[in-house]
Amino acid sequence: MRELEAPGSVDYETTRWLLRPDSIAITRADLRGARGEAVSDDLSTPSTFVLLYREYLRYRWDVFELAFSQDHEDWTTAMTADERESFLGIAVSFHHGSRQLEIDLPVFMIGAAEEHRLHLAAQIETQARHTTFFGRFLCEAVGVQCTNAMELLDQTFPWVQETFIGPFGLLAHQAEELGRKPDDQLAQVRYGTTCFLWIEGVLAKSFLSVLMGFAAGRGLLPTFLVGARATYLDHSRQVRGGLLFLQDALRRDPAVVSEIHDTLHTILTVSGVSSRRSFHEPLGWSEDEMRLLVCSHLRRRCDVLGIALPADLENLLVPIQQKDVGG
Ligand SMILES: [Fe+2]
Repeated sequence: MRELEAPGSVDYETTRWLLRPDSIAITRADLRGARGEAVSDDLSTPSTFVLLYREYLRYRWDVFELAFSQDHEDWTTAMTADERESFLGIAVSFHHGSRQLEIDLPVFMIGAAEEHRLHLAAQIETQARHTTFFGRFLCEAVGVQCTNAMELLDQTFPWVQETFIGPFGLLAHQAEELGRKPDDQLAQVRYGTTCFLWIEGVLAKSFLSVLMGFAAGRGLLPTFLVGARATYLDHSRQVRGGLLFLQDALRRDPAVVSEIHDTLHTILTVSGVSSRRSFHEPLGWSEDEMRLLVCSHLRRRCDVLGIALPADLENLLVPIQQKDVGG
């Protein structure tokens, strides 16, 4: 697989410490057997899901402890209209996306192994928390006026970015398919590729780091930054669980790699469509930097799975970069 440097915006170094995945983590020594003995170095897949569940319990945070008064002040007085529009497009996409995962994850959980269900139940609660966090930010910092959660979703839907609409539409379709046959392993792998590899492992990691980089680099939106950092670390745990599921599926049947490739092909095809150019520049990222960031996350997740991208997928990635870099 060709190595690409992850790009850095002016704020990237400032936020590197915020994104350190090992800044909160429990070790395998924390997972003890029934008699208190430490587990061996060979963690089985079920044991690792239990470990992830323990990590969730230890680092759970209370979304209602956050107060957004300084963020509201920053939003209304310290940001330009372009910065607000760009920031809002991503924040609203996270709000809608978190809410959709809450709805779609239970279907995937029906056919999951028992230990995996602990991790997925935690993930559903975590997504409810993320929905609440972004919802509170939109109401209390941005100032969206609404009387209930559904009204907030209806009002903000026009701001959801196209980059998010395609993959979430695909996920809704895959969840419907799983609802009809929850034990179908190939349908599970297709769903897992969209949900854990792409949406959480690539989209969420890339775009949340852009928002955090902007807020930290400019010294703005302190409460958003606290919640976004906690959200980012939650996603790191969820991606580990999702990739573990895909690794396990690949180990049992290496042929499922074609399901992963086909799903990525669909996602990259729908994600290549965008009618809005240079949307992230107010936040410090050009379009080609954004694409490189997204591609570097995709390559890293594929490396963890031990799979390469076939030529047709490489072709979907590379011409975009060359076209943009070369003008
Ligand atoms: Fe989330």
